[in-house]
Amino acid sequence: MSPLLSAFCLALLGIVASTSACQFPDTPLSSNITDGFSIYVQNASIPVIHNRVLNFRPNGLDMHLVLRPAGEPTNDTLYLQNGRVIYNTLHAVIDLEYDPDNSTTKIFMTDRTYHPVGIFQPVYGCNPETDALQIELEVATRLTDPPVNGGKVGIRRVVDTYEFRYSPPDNSLLTPEWLSVTLVLFRNG
Ligand SMILES: *[C@@H]1O[C@H](CO)[C@@H](O)[C@H](O)[C@H]1NC(C)=O
Ligand SMILES: *[C@@H]1O[C@H](CO)[C@@H](O)[C@H](O)[C@H]1NC(C)=O
Ligand SMILES: *[C@@H]1O[C@H](CO)[C@@H](O)[C@H](O)[C@H]1NC(C)=O
Ligand SMILES: *[C@@H]1O[C@H](CO)[C@@H](O)[C@H](O)[C@H]1NC(C)=O
Repeated sequence: MSPLLSAFCLALLGIVASTSACQFPDTPLSSNITDGFSIYVQNASIPVIHNRVLNFRPNGLDMHLVLRPAGEPTNDTLYLQNGRVIYNTLHAVIDLEYDPDNSTTKIFMTDRTYHPVGIFQPVYGCNPETDALQIELEVATRLTDPPVNGGKVGIRRVVDTYEFRYSPPDNSLLTPEWLSVTLVLFRNG
């Protein structure tokens, strides 16, 4: 290919890349999602966790959050009610196993009402590989007293499993062991 032609192709690619970002619907997403869903995580720069599915690992009456193949599938049984992630009588909370070294806290599902609840906001995004429209869950608030707005979800490796944790916003203590992810909704496997 001539240099001129390859420059033209690169320019064309640039146009395609800059215009291929998927289009978001005009209607904003509600903090209620009544159609049951499952969740997977994305971070294309961390292949070991990229595109892996959130599974439940029963712990007494609670469900701990781990990456497949650990745990059991959630089978599209999750839904969102006023920003709360719900499964049966359980809801997602951000509490316990606080690690002062990096100021991160466990996320899990429980029916106990005294743990600080995680409130999530659904937002539109584009799949980094297929550019398909997707719905992501961002941390809106951790309902401590006073509440903390923002923050993010990450994965931590514990021996042979990967568990879900929360970091508050502007956390300067995070190390490369913190694997920051986007939570993405999916259905039907
Ligand atoms: C979400 O659903 C609850 C009832 O489950 C309702 O009280 C609330 O108004 C709904 N919120 C929105 C934004 O639709
Ligand atoms: C998902 O379905 C499997 C197979 O029916 C079942 O064993 C498992 O308990 C289900 N998980 C949840 C979270 O309902
Ligand atoms: C937080 O620090 C502890 C102790 O240094 C470490 O074991 C753990 O992996 C760290 N967690 C994250 C999410 O960075
Ligand atoms: C993916 O991981 C990289 C490297 O750890 C981090 O800089 C980036 O913010 C993460 N992306 C998302 C969407 O969490």
